Amino acid sequence: MSGPEENIPRHIAIIPDGNGRWAESRGLPRNEGHRRGTEVMRDVIEAALELGVSSVTVYAFSMENWGRPSDEVDAIMSLLRRYLRRERDELAAKGIRVRAIGRLDMLDADLVEAIREVERSTEQGSDMRLTFALSYGGRTEIVDAVRSLARDVASGHLEPDAIEEKTLGARMYAPDVPDPDLLIRTGGEHRISNFLPWQLVYTELWISEALWPDFGPDELREAVRLYQQRERRFGRTGAQARGGS
Ligand code: FPP
Repeated sequence: MSGPEENIPRHIAIIPDGNGRWAESRGLPRNEGHRRGTEVMRDVIEAALELGVSSVTVYAFSMENWGRPSDEVDAIMSLLRRYLRRERDELAAKGIRVRAIGRLDMLDADLVEAIREVERSTEQGSDMRLTFALSYGGRTEIVDAVRSLARDVASGHLEPDAIEEKTLGARMYAPDVPDPDLLIRTGGEHRISNFLPWQLVYTELWISEALWPDFGPDELREAVRLYQQRERRFGRTGAQARGGS
């Protein structure tokens, strides 16, 4: 029998959507939704750690988000910087290892510095991996991986016919983190929006109608409970999947 402590997703990916709508529905500036969103993130990460989830990847800022009005982009960047500085010591104390993935060269130097500091401070963490996808695009990640393989082919270090799925997968930004078992998207939209397209092929999807600032530990636990009822077949029959063969 599978109890609540069993079959915990090893890796949860999160698209924290709906900050803007949450604020607008209250007559508040959108940035107030983002501010509230960073507070919620703290509680959700703690709840994931308590559940025994070993990896969480958060879509913090997409390549497409660069197209937002510059004052909103600036406000999000400064919230992320403050979040990383404020949480750094506590993340380290909790054994959470933090890393950022994406085109970080497009970020301001002080945000990159805050990222490097939290990465350094938490590098010994072994209880959970927390990855922030920042200035991240899934197709950009695949392009970067292909470029890296192409360089090896051009220099004669790699035969084109030796390229397998795992060869390309190993060039993704965080190849040591297993593919997500569960994707949680808040805000009710049914799409993956260029988030981890390579890694999500067999991920279970959970769309929450809650806007991200209204999401919390209870909603996370509910998503995990529903995940535990899913049958993951990976293209096989149900009987095969249940038999484990
Ligand atoms: C999505 O809501 C939120 C963003 C694109 C901004 C970045 C996310 C946060 C600040 C919360 C996560 C916290 C951390 C620490 C990574 P939206 O603005 O797209 O909302 P809308 O769909 O209602 O407009």
